[in-house]
Amino acid sequence: MTVAHIKRIDAPLHGVIKIPGDKSVSHRRALLSLLCREPVHLENFGPGKDCQATLDCIERLGKTVKVSGADVTISGEMSVREAEFDAANSGTTARLAMGLLAGMPGKWTIRGDTSLSKRPMERVAAPLREMGALIELTDGKLPARIMGGRLKSIRYELPVPSAQVKTAIMLAALHADGVTEIREPIVTRDHTERILGLRPARENDANLWRLDPSEVRINGDVLSAPVPGDISSGTFWMVAAALVQGSQVTLKMVSLNPTRTGIIEVLQKAGLQISTQNLRESAGEPVGDITITRDGSLHEFSLAGKDTAAVIDEIPALAVMATQCKGQTIVSDAGELRVKESDRLAAIIQNLRKMGVNILDTESGFSLNGPQQLSGATINPAADHRIAMAFALAGLIADGETKILQAECADISYPQFWQELIQISGRVVQLREEQ
Ligand code: S3P
Repeated sequence: MTVAHIKRIDAPLHGVIKIPGDKSVSHRRALLSLLCREPVHLENFGPGKDCQATLDCIERLGKTVKVSGADVTISGEMSVREAEFDAANSGTTARLAMGLLAGMPGKWTIRGDTSLSKRPMERVAAPLREMGALIELTDGKLPARIMGGRLKSIRYELPVPSAQVKTAIMLAALHADGVTEIREPIVTRDHTERILGLRPARENDANLWRLDPSEVRINGDVLSAPVPGDISSGTFWMVAAALVQGSQVTLKMVSLNPTRTGIIEVLQKAGLQISTQNLRESAGEPVGDITITRDGSLHEFSLAGKDTAAVIDEIPALAVMATQCKGQTIVSDAGELRVKESDRLAAIIQNLRKMGVNILDTESGFSLNGPQQLSGATINPAADHRIAMAFALAGLIADGETKILQAECADISYPQFWQELIQISGRVVQLREEQ
């Protein structure tokens, strides 16, 4: 395994970073290419292993995938009627593929790695079965066996805010007779809706979506476009800048989709200065550059309800930041973190405690009083990319040395993370292969 050894940083962070392509957008465009005859060209495709799992899946289904650096070209036609594939660690690959394949004639089996095979899949299978899909799970988890065929439309109210479940239903609805309506309890990321050109079913009700398959046009032109940078990956640099007084970091060409920018509001609430430049639209997604400046003290930024849901992937990094904020930060309604790539609440709380932080586990969140000085420790990220990267930032401000075990797990979403960190931190980080 790779172990990252991190020492306390002694100067503010300064840098301009090009953020890799958005994971959610990359998965969606690649999977939807299965419905196109024309080639699809994707620049700045998400570089991590998760997005690679989606490319592997569509290759198994008969598509030809050519990768040149961050550019991906997908061509050919879906040619098989039976396939088994491995979604590896990627919940988005597994759940979105379940939705798409449920409506495509054939026999499909989806597997995952140890972590993914523990994650709940019934939340996706249940609505798909209502649509008439034939899906067998294994105790509500992967492997999933699907007999794809024609589906019927449904009206469905999501019990949990989940863009993956919402998207799985939308992808299935493309092969359903009639109009499907989906209500989400809280607005979640809307990349699929933007690609499919959907509108909320009613004005002034952004939570109700309507999909009429006869109105949706998917072709190579709709899907071929540069993928904006992933603001969830960019969060690590924003939080790194937040941790060290006098820092300033600019992120280039990042998605500014309002369903993803909750992190900017949270950082502003904590006292950071954030500005955006070069705003434009790329294939229906707003993009721009973000500059974050730490010039002053940080204060608490409690989160609950829809505000928690809006930054669900960013909470590991925000938990590290909370230790440096003055006052009591309470994060509640974050129970979904228990079923991510690891039990992220447990990983956050256990590892912060190892660093000497006094933090209260509230079952669906945590509460801590800041600021608290961190002590270097050995961090076990439970093979979870976002935990490893969040605690690397903690290492930058901890006394003594911090060791991040399984540092290679950052490859799931951000293979360049450690090289960028070494550059921006002035080399307080060393990577070593260890037993
Ligand atoms: C994602 C949705 C979220 C998020 C995940 C990506 C997506 O998961 O945590 O990283 O691309 O739709 P849930 O749908 O489980 O909330």
